[in-house]
Amino acid sequence: MQTDSFRPDALRIGTPLSANATRVMLLGAGELGKEVIIALQRLGVEVIAVDRYANAPGHQVAHRAHVIDMTDAAALRALVEKEQPHLIVPEIEAIATDALAEIEAAQLATVIPTARATQLTMNREGIRRLAAEELGLPTSPYAFAQSLDEMKAAIATIGFPCVVKPVMSSSGKGQSVLKSDADVEPAWNYAMAGGRVNHGRVIVEGFIDFEYEITQLTVRAADPESGETQTYFCDPIGHVQVAGDYVESWQPQPMSPAALEKARDVAAKVTTALGGRGLFGVELFVRGDDVWFSEVSPRPHDTGLITLATQRFSEFELHARAILGLPVDTALRAPGASAVIYGGLDETGIVFEGVAQALAVPGADLRLFGKPESFVKRRMGVAVATGADTDEARERAKLAASKVRPVSAK
Ligand SMILES: Nc1ncnc2c1ncn2[C@@H]1O[C@H](COP(=O)(O)OP(=O)(O)O)[C@@H](O)[C@H]1O
Ligand SMILES: [Mg+2]
Repeated sequence: MQTDSFRPDALRIGTPLSANATRVMLLGAGELGKEVIIALQRLGVEVIAVDRYANAPGHQVAHRAHVIDMTDAAALRALVEKEQPHLIVPEIEAIATDALAEIEAAQLATVIPTARATQLTMNREGIRRLAAEELGLPTSPYAFAQSLDEMKAAIATIGFPCVVKPVMSSSGKGQSVLKSDADVEPAWNYAMAGGRVNHGRVIVEGFIDFEYEITQLTVRAADPESGETQTYFCDPIGHVQVAGDYVESWQPQPMSPAALEKARDVAAKVTTALGGRGLFGVELFVRGDDVWFSEVSPRPHDTGLITLATQRFSEFELHARAILGLPVDTALRAPGASAVIYGGLDETGIVFEGVAQALAVPGADLRLFGKPESFVKRRMGVAVATGADTDEARERAKLAASKVRPVSAK
């Protein structure tokens, strides 16, 4: 593979497990990484999957699997030197991103989309300051705080209701909505307990009373004519979050033409600023014609699992194609929906009942991720469905998800 050129006519893909293989290393091998790996495998790429625990979903479909602490810079660097991937594809935020920057600077591998993008988006402060202060994009009012007193001062200017989040966290961990003074101290304590790296910093955001929120999947990929990187948009995905975790999504989310234009403008600006190639999940809040930027993943997004059913190429296939310098097609095939299947119990090696009943729902399909250990609130699978419209698809996806029953194998 020639990583020095994005020109489509210059791209070559080798034979896996041979000296000329095109090698891609996934950092994080959960359900999203697993689908990216399958997409890469179909294009004849050699894939190395890395996660912090054994038998992660992506480990099960890769050429080689490794278990390391990806926040350990030395361990990460050593593994990259051993495996010599052409591309490194982060699937999660909790990675030693400074090591990725060094690897990129030393031209050991290309980091997707860029090492800087992984650094900026792993910390809410980096991406918020870029979006609001450098790019001038509309966001909720916000302030950062390093202590309970600083947080009280921030709330005095932002007001209630507001949202407090650790700057280093994901999936709603450590996050609270505050309505009055009584909520302040519990929110601080919860944030301190829930942050990924407890360095005691939070963002306070004004609460946006949005009508709906969307993920605007945005792809930076090579234009097949010129070879130049272009920006492509998928249809907007609407979703419902419960306690900061996505439970349901649908596509397309209807939007006013003005809101759609603003959403794409915001998405283009933030993804262009992050640079590189690949698919991004831009999270936006919408009310009427108003659009607020919330955050962005420089990688496939969980609400985008729905694209396994709805698009000609899923977000995972789009990511695989974009990072390899191949052309993309973001066309929607049919309206659809997804519904999350939770573990519902804490146990290793659970069993799923009702799979046949779920797959008997018209237009429905399933992904069971194969996670070795179930937790009550761990995402273990997803139902996706198409329909005549998103209402029908949502009913089908929720029905299919409800048929799957995770049970104890004991
Ligand atoms: N400022 C806000 N106003 C209103 N709702 C918010 C705000 N911030 C977050 N939320 C809600 O919480 C969800 C999770 O917040 P987000 O910042 O995306 O955290 P995470 O990184 O954990 O996904 C959002 O999708 C949205 O539903
Ligand atoms: Mg989010």
